[in-house]
Amino acid sequence: MSLVITDLSKRYGEVAVFSHVSLTVASGEFVAILGESGVGKSTLLNCMAGLDNWDSGSVLLDGLDLGALNDEQKARLRREKTGFVFQAFHVLPHLDVTQNVALPLLLLGQPDDARVQAMLDAVGLNGLGPRLPQQLSGGQLQRVAIARALVHRPSLLLADEPTGNLDPGTAAKVIDALISQSRLHGASLVLVTHSDAAARRADRVLRLTAEGLQSARVRLQADDTDLLQPQAL
Ligand SMILES: Nc1ncnc2c1ncn2[C@@H]1O[C@H](COP(=O)(O)OP(=O)(O)O)[C@@H](O)[C@H]1O
Ligand SMILES: [Mg+2]
Repeated sequence: MSLVITDLSKRYGEVAVFSHVSLTVASGEFVAILGESGVGKSTLLNCMAGLDNWDSGSVLLDGLDLGALNDEQKARLRREKTGFVFQAFHVLPHLDVTQNVALPLLLLGQPDDARVQAMLDAVGLNGLGPRLPQQLSGGQLQRVAIARALVHRPSLLLADEPTGNLDPGTAAKVIDALISQSRLHGASLVLVTHSDAAARRADRVLRLTAEGLQSARVRLQADDTDLLQPQAL
C-alpha cells in the first residue's frame, strides 16, 4: 500500500508537536523513523493509522484521503489494510496465544485456523498456542503482537518501538520476524525505532524533528554488526 503524507502539522493547544511532515512510502517499502523521545513519533504513526487527528496537511493511503473518512470508515480501513505493533504489546490477557493471533481474522469474519498456525510457526511461536500471555517472556509476547499484526496480511504495517522493552538478542529476533514477514507479503513497513541496527536494515532512514522529517544516517557500531544480517528465530 502506498502512503503519502503532505505537510502534516499537529498541535496540542498552543504547543506544536510537529509541522511540515511530508513522507511518501511506496508499496512494499520499509522506512525506519528515528527521533528524540517526545518529538511526536507515536503521534505520527497514530495519524498514519487514522487513530489520531491532525491540524493541517493530509494522509493518503492508496490515494484515499484519511482525513475525509468518518470514524467507521477509518476503523474498517484499519481492520482490512493495516497492522499495528505497539511498544507495550497490547496482547489481550484473557485470550491464549492462538486466540490473540486469530482475533483480526475473526473481526473480519474470516476465521482461518491454518493461517493462524502458519503465522505462529513463522514467528517462532509453534507449540505455544495454548499459553496465556502471562506465561510468556517479553520477546515471545512481542512476537504474538507481530503475528497478530500480520495475520490478516495487511498492506501497511506500522510498528512503534516494538523492541523497546527487549534485550538486544531478543530484539534482533523480533525485528527479523517483523521484516521478513512484511517482505514476504509485500507489505509496506513503517518502523519507529531507537535501534541503529534495526534502522540499518530499512530501505530508507528518516529522523523526525519539530521541523519535519529529514533523511538520516545511522551509525555503524562494531558490536551490532551481527544484527545487519537476518537471523534465524
Ligand atoms: N493527549 C495529549 N495532550 C497533550 N500533549 C500530548 C498528548 N499526547 C501526547 N502529547 C505530547 O506530544 C508530544 C509527542 O508525543 P509522542 O508522539 O508520544 O512522542 P514520541 O513517540 O516521539 O516519544 C509529547 O511532548 C507529548 O507530551
Ligand atoms: Mg512514542
